[in-house]
Amino acid sequence: MSAPAKTFDRLARPYRLLEWIAFGPLLERARFQHLYQLRDCQRILLLGDGDGRVLSRLCALAPAAHIDTLDLSAGMLARAASRLTPADRTRVIFRQANALQAGYPPTAYDAVVTFFFLDCFTDSQVSALIARMQPALTADALWLFADFAEPAHGWRRLRAKIWLAVMYAFFRWQTGLSTRRLPASEALLLSAGFTMRAETSFQGGFVRSAVFAKPPVAR
Ligand SMILES: C[S@@+](CC[C@H](N)C(=O)[O-])C[C@H]1O[C@@H](n2cnc3c(N)ncnc32)[C@H](O)[C@@H]1O
Repeated sequence: MSAPAKTFDRLARPYRLLEWIAFGPLLERARFQHLYQLRDCQRILLLGDGDGRVLSRLCALAPAAHIDTLDLSAGMLARAASRLTPADRTRVIFRQANALQAGYPPTAYDAVVTFFFLDCFTDSQVSALIARMQPALTADALWLFADFAEPAHGWRRLRAKIWLAVMYAFFRWQTGLSTRRLPASEALLLSAGFTMRAETSFQGGFVRSAVFAKPPVAR
C-alpha cells in the first residue's frame, strides 16, 4: 500500500479558489446535499476533509457532535482549524495521519465522511479502508460520500474522462498522488454490505453524493 510521497500542503491555501474556478458551486452542493443527516450525530470522523469547509459547516449543524478530522496534510489541517471558533475547537480533534494506516477506536463513530477523498486511492486501497473503518463504526452508523464519477455513456462520459485525466495529472504534479483513475467506491461500499439510503447525481452523473448505512451485525 503506497502512501503519497508528498502532501496537499501547497494546495491548502488556493484549494477553494481553484475548485471554484474549475467547478463553481458544484462540489459544494454535492458536499452539503446530505450533510443535514448528521445533525444528531454524537461522534463524527472526517477523512481527508481538506481545508475544513465541511468541518465548520458540521460544527454549526451538529452542535452535540464531537468531531475527529484526519488528514495527511498539516497545511490543510491548519487551514481547517483557522475556520473554527475557539468554542468549536474544543470539540474537534485534529489528527495528521495516513488514513490507510491509522488506527481507529472501536465502535466510536456514528458517522464517517469522505468527500472527494476516496478518489485519491485505488480499488484495493478503498476496500482496505472500508474494512479498517467497519469496527470503528457504531451499529447504525452512516457513511457520507461525495465524489466524481463517470457517467455511463454519451458526451458526459467523454467530458468526465477528460476532466478526470486533467485532474489526476494536476494532483500528480502538485501532490505526488499516484492514483490514475477513479476507484469504484460506491460499488465497494455496497459489496462490503453497506446499504444506500440516499443518492443525488449532479451534471448527469459526473458528481455523486450519497448516504450509506453500515451493514447490520450478523447474529
Ligand atoms: C482532493 S482533497 C479533498 C478535500 C476535501 N475533502 C474536499 O471535499 O475537497 C483530498 C484530501 O485528502 C487528504 N489525503 C490524501 N491522501 C490521504 C491519506 N492517505 N490519508 C489522509 N489524508 C489524505 C489530502 O491531504 C487532502 O486534504
